[in-house]
Amino acid sequence: TIRIVRTVAELRATLEPHRAGRIGFVPTMGALHEGHLSLLRAAGAENTTVVLSLFVNPTQFGDAADLEAYPRTEEADIASAAHVGTHVVFAPSAAEMYPAGFATTVSVDGALTATLEGAVRGRSHFDGVATVVAKLLLAVQPDRAYFGAKDAQQVVVVRRMVTDLRIPVEIVACPTSRDADGLARSSRNARLSAEERTLAAAVPRSLRAAQDAFASGIRDPHRLTALVHEGLAHAGLDQEYVEIVDADSLEPLTDIARPALLALAVRVGQVRLIDNVVLDPG
Ligand code: PAJ
Repeated sequence: TIRIVRTVAELRATLEPHRAGRIGFVPTMGALHEGHLSLLRAAGAENTTVVLSLFVNPTQFGDAADLEAYPRTEEADIASAAHVGTHVVFAPSAAEMYPAGFATTVSVDGALTATLEGAVRGRSHFDGVATVVAKLLLAVQPDRAYFGAKDAQQVVVVRRMVTDLRIPVEIVACPTSRDADGLARSSRNARLSAEERTLAAAVPRSLRAAQDAFASGIRDPHRLTALVHEGLAHAGLDQEYVEIVDADSLEPLTDIARPALLALAVRVGQVRLIDNVVLDPG
């Protein structure tokens, strides 16, 4: 049966007898969908114990309204997690994670956090992510931690932090889970109207068009991003950025001779969507 714990002390005591095997950890903010479940399944396939965290981390949200609007569905999340074989759910309060007087921040500087999501949401977003992920990794001390490729920059930032702090964990990136029309699964998709949901399909369609052009030999980032801009504009989507960067350093590219990340953010009505694909010249 699944065990729910609320404090780091309880979590440590619960995991103690499981340390002889391998612990796989999936950090989330809850409102679980098939994308999250795919990470839990991957963790279950490669480890003896699976730990899930549910914590809507206030420090990575830009504004209070966005934090307030974030869906909270703990009971349903626990049921779904149990269904895919999760052993332990860590669902701490904000006070447990950020006790009175909290004053420590983990900050990943430089190009990794200045670009893409960092440029739009500000560096404080990734400071919030790095700090909470560091705290969660210290609390769980897993052998492996699972992240979704959908948040590609988050994976790069977390890998940098884990290397820099020599945190003994293997970071595993899992493929983006998509709906039948290609739209990346996201807790935010539930807020799209039927009409917006149809328009949103232009996101994966445009990325696919760029992938096809890349496969046919086009290596000029400008031509590839132009294709995406066109596809998104055709659907009338409000574009925040469409960029091609080095998949590891996130530096801008003039030619794709190494694996590149084609990443974008758009607004569909009130909803902000991000997605990406990797262009690998092989
Ligand atoms: P959250 O948005 O809840 O996502 C939790 C994990 O699920 C992340 O690693 C994310 O990349 C992954 N995920 C989301 N949608 C996915 C999809 N369609 N396919 C595959 N994986 C998907 O990301 C966060 O929470 C937070 O920043 C967190 C790491 C928990 C720190 O607070």
